[in-house]
Amino acid sequence: MGKYITDEIIDEIRRKADIVEIAGAFTTVSKRGTDYWACCPFHQEKTPSFKLNQERQVFYCFGCKKSGNLFKLVQEMVNTDFPGAVEWLANRLSIIIPEGRKNPGEDSGEAARRRTMREEGRRLLQEAAAFFQQCLQQPEGAAARQYLQERGLDWETVEKFRLGYAPDSWDALGNYAFHKGFSQELLVHTGLSVRKEERQDRCYDRFRGRLMFPICDELGRVVGFSGRVLQKSEQAAKYVNSPESEFFQKGSLLYGLYLARNEFKEKGHALVCEGQMDVIACHRAGLKQAVAAQGTAFTAQHAALLKRSTACVRLAFDGDLAGVKATLRTIDLLLAADLQVSVVILPEHEDPDSIFRTGGPEALQQIMAVAEEAVPFIYRMACQEHDQGLPEGKSAIVSQTLHSISALPDQIARTAHCQWLAAQLHLPENILLDSLNGHLRKRQQAELRQDVHAHPGAPRASQSVPPPFSLPLPVVTDVQVPILANILDLILHFEFLAERMLQSKALHLLPDTPLGQAVNIVLAACDQGEWSLAGQSLAESDLVNNPEVGQVLAQSNYRNLMPDSGSPEQKNDKLTALQRALSDCENRLLLVEVTEQLRQLQQELTGADVEQSRTLLQKFQALNRRKNDLKRSSS
Ligand code: UTP
Ligand code: MN
Repeated sequence: MGKYITDEIIDEIRRKADIVEIAGAFTTVSKRGTDYWACCPFHQEKTPSFKLNQERQVFYCFGCKKSGNLFKLVQEMVNTDFPGAVEWLANRLSIIIPEGRKNPGEDSGEAARRRTMREEGRRLLQEAAAFFQQCLQQPEGAAARQYLQERGLDWETVEKFRLGYAPDSWDALGNYAFHKGFSQELLVHTGLSVRKEERQDRCYDRFRGRLMFPICDELGRVVGFSGRVLQKSEQAAKYVNSPESEFFQKGSLLYGLYLARNEFKEKGHALVCEGQMDVIACHRAGLKQAVAAQGTAFTAQHAALLKRSTACVRLAFDGDLAGVKATLRTIDLLLAADLQVSVVILPEHEDPDSIFRTGGPEALQQIMAVAEEAVPFIYRMACQEHDQGLPEGKSAIVSQTLHSISALPDQIARTAHCQWLAAQLHLPENILLDSLNGHLRKRQQAELRQDVHAHPGAPRASQSVPPPFSLPLPVVTDVQVPILANILDLILHFEFLAERMLQSKALHLLPDTPLGQAVNIVLAACDQGEWSLAGQSLAESDLVNNPEVGQVLAQSNYRNLMPDSGSPEQKNDKLTALQRALSDCENRLLLVEVTEQLRQLQQELTGADVEQSRTLLQKFQALNRRKNDLKRSSS
């Protein structure tokens, strides 16, 4: 049955979970004073800049600016969606999520339909896996069982990886699902069925007469399948995979990840192979840290996925030319993700599965135990391809190796590798370092082009383009970010300032940005006499994921001005300072507005006749006086 996450479940998780404890599962947390700090699990660092706020149950990294609440933390670390994070947390906290749907009328229309689709789809995929498993044990599964036996797969392994058999029929699964109440639409949506070309209202089973490997996500939920033919065939593809869908995204799924993840720490690395059979062989040989991208199409997303659970990756691709090419491409992606990479060279025309079958667990363990570091490997491959004795050969070797070295995000590591390469080839270091810089520039340019491609029209920090026409007020500008962050900080931590802000002349200038929205939430709470609840409701809203809001939630810049200690005079001074800070912010906001109005007036003036100019100039002078007043009072 599909699980339906109710608000009660989410509340229970909030009550029982402690972000400090949960973060401890991913990084080492230490206490400093009343604060909790850790090395950020989202980026590489040696000194902690990841702050956990236990009171509000939020995190903020002063290094990479990521922020969020408990659910966001789990989502990112486990690489899952919100329901996945809820499930993960519920498991950890022994909270039982009731089966089935309780109140389906709760959210409306399209969103509810989509949610139902997703839940039902998950349920169908699960049911399909169970169906294939059953079929493997039925008489019709005899050929598949025979095949497994020939490949030397024991039943324990079959069960661990939930292998199954798709009957050689056009409608076996379709009929089964139909009787279980699943719609044809859902069968197509999950990729289990294919619509007939000539009759779009009819479907047939995608997987027929194949050994079935369920593909699971990081939580072990079935999201798709890979089906292998039992006999070599000219016409049929060796593997048929689920098509891309909202459930199945090949580029961000690793086969066996949910089984392997816990082993990464113990073994010190993740072992990446090419196929399902290789992962299975590795696990049988005790190498339970093995995962595979489906085939050789390893992506940057795969690298990011691994990066969340390990710092080192070992690659074990085929020793043939295609395998080496795939290895080189994959190394590049892994290095760029700041992962340490090593490579196992398999004998040509062998894969982990064939090694296991001929040599047993020991043979596979032995081969996997000897790995070469990535950069020396790339260098060695380049030397095999080019003649070191020739100047052109040397140049090509340098170029290929530097290309990979330039993928490393760490400058010191890049330099060290460069020095190593210089020594290997008896070349002066500075020449190689110069050349490395050339590669770095090329890489940056390529990344930039990709960025522009991926987000056409998206503004980039490096080039501030003035807006082509004047925006309606309130103006949303970068100038306002620090002002608004300060306002949020002040009104969130001091009730009397929230009350003052409610009376402010600058109230209408709050923009519809995350910071502006957060300020409005606090003010609204204050207006309803619920100021003390504002922080919590912000921490539980999506706004906490915004780095500017997240930073304020995690830590106040005005904590020195908390008037809870000191003499009456000192307290008074603090209150005055706080009030000044707020009016300063208000003035600055007003100043932004006046400046913008002046700019617009100036534009109008350029096209105005004499008569109009007079009135405009008067307005202009009045505004200018106001601007100067504001400037004076805020300096
Ligand atoms: P291989 O051709 O190396 O297969 O493809 P394999 O894993 O060794 O399988 P066996 O030992 O012949 O049974 C490696 C991986 O590439 C993907 C599969 O995920 C496979 O495990 N692949 C391969 C496909 O998706 N489609 C194909 O047609 C072939
Ligand atoms: Mn194989």
